[in-house]
Amino acid sequence: MASDLKFIVTGGAGFIGSTLVQTLLDRGRVAVIDNLLTGHEANLEEVRGQIEFHNVDIRDAAALEPVIRGADTVFHLAAIPSVPRSIDDPVPSHQVNIDGTFNVFRAAALGKVRRVVYAASSSAYGDTEVLPKTETMTPLPKSPYAVQKLLGEYYGSVFHSCFGLEAVSLRFFNVYGPRQDPASPYSGVLSLFMKHLIARTCPTIFGDGEQSRDFTFVEDVAELCWKASQASGVAGKMYNAGNGNQYTLNQIWKLLQQMEGVNLPANMAPPRAGDVRHSKADTSAAVRDLGHAPRVTIEQGLKRTLEWYRGA
Ligand code: UD1
Repeated sequence: MASDLKFIVTGGAGFIGSTLVQTLLDRGRVAVIDNLLTGHEANLEEVRGQIEFHNVDIRDAAALEPVIRGADTVFHLAAIPSVPRSIDDPVPSHQVNIDGTFNVFRAAALGKVRRVVYAASSSAYGDTEVLPKTETMTPLPKSPYAVQKLLGEYYGSVFHSCFGLEAVSLRFFNVYGPRQDPASPYSGVLSLFMKHLIARTCPTIFGDGEQSRDFTFVEDVAELCWKASQASGVAGKMYNAGNGNQYTLNQIWKLLQQMEGVNLPANMAPPRAGDVRHSKADTSAAVRDLGHAPRVTIEQGLKRTLEWYRGA
């Protein structure tokens, strides 16, 4: 049965946030904070009658504080995502991802929130020499976005040590799944691949396509967010929220074409600035301390995602 605890999801109208909202519904009361810049109300259609929705921009500290006050947990997912977007247009991403994140932590501390689970990013690692990437490695951010997300982790840890707020950071590793928006050139690569596959058009691959990612299904990430909100002894810490797998873009595009029985050779374009070459998470700390147990294989995840895009 749902408790009377209040959970806040910033960015709850986004694709990861809206999946997390569904995970939280039978565990307590859920309020979403979203300014609908990259999120969509349609993502919350199925749960509309069951949640509070606040159209608030996290840059607006005064509007944020009364909504957050007294909540049990804040899941802070609101952000302007995308590495290339943070290079093309760095000011808004700085303001939202750094100033907005500060506002969320501050409102949580002032409002006596028990815990904040913060959506950090695997981009903080940059091009480490060794794979898989473990939490003890020195961060090597390569883009404004990577710096911004890393700074949020540091703020989380300092809000814990200086203000007693239980902050836990999860470094998301290339999350994909239903509701990821393929509408922008800054959209996640798998959402763009899905769009092209369904339209029977050729996607663009930046670079040689041999760059690799630890693609993580959105439900596994949402479940880990919940676990991070409940685990003990983790305040002030950071964990990888990946799947522990590693696929190149060429492999994924080939797999998708095979699933559909089509031949759509990708257009190859120059590599993107700020792009990380390889990414693969060491999940052992998250498994040990948070009970992380990703369940969805890449084949299952791609199949479910494709089915969703077909119906959308
Ligand atoms: C990065 C982070 C990820 C974060 C995300 C938020 C890393 C390793 N990952 O993802 O944790 O959640 O930012 O935005 O830093 N690509 C194409 N064709 C396209 C689009 C993209 O080839 O049409 C390529 C990109 O150049 C890149 C890969 O696909 O090599 C993945 O790109 P994208 O989906 O944008 O995510 P990352 O930048 O890897």
